[in-house]
Amino acid sequence: MTNHRISLTINGEYEQVDVPSNMTLLQMLREKLAQTGTKNGCMAGECGACTVILDGEPVNSCMVLAVECDGANVVTVEGLAKDGVLDPVQQAIIDHGGVQCGFCTPGMLISSRALLDRNPNPTEEEIREALVGNLCRCTGYLRIVDAVKDAASRQQALTV
Ligand code: FES
Ligand code: FES
Repeated sequence: MTNHRISLTINGEYEQVDVPSNMTLLQMLREKLAQTGTKNGCMAGECGACTVILDGEPVNSCMVLAVECDGANVVTVEGLAKDGVLDPVQQAIIDHGGVQCGFCTPGMLISSRALLDRNPNPTEEEIREALVGNLCRCTGYLRIVDAVKDAASRQQALTV
């Protein structure tokens, strides 16, 4: 399989990576860059565990080829905390008990961050819609939705 050299920014760091043409973004993150926070749940675009922000939009990284990401800007769960301080969505999901097994959590956090970046004050309906592609088998979703609402409030308090 031919390798292709791609250049991209991941969590603010410039990276050059040699990837085979059939490697997904998810595989590249986990296998080439040891960024294992992004989870492999289904490899079929069904579960959302692999969600990352690609050029500002949440995507299932198992459905994107790494070679398509040449020049892209990618944010993974490893990029949410800044200078040792958790992102408001991370802190809120802990405080609301929205983590059980934790497998869905990186994808939930990324989808939530992408939502709050484009809509800082979402309704409950908008939160549920933003998380519809992220499956959780443990929590029943209520605590996660409450956490995102709270994260929005905390984020707004930080900006006034
Ligand atoms: S691993 Fe990508 S959607 Fe499930
Ligand atoms: S906390 Fe287990 S799948 Fe969501």
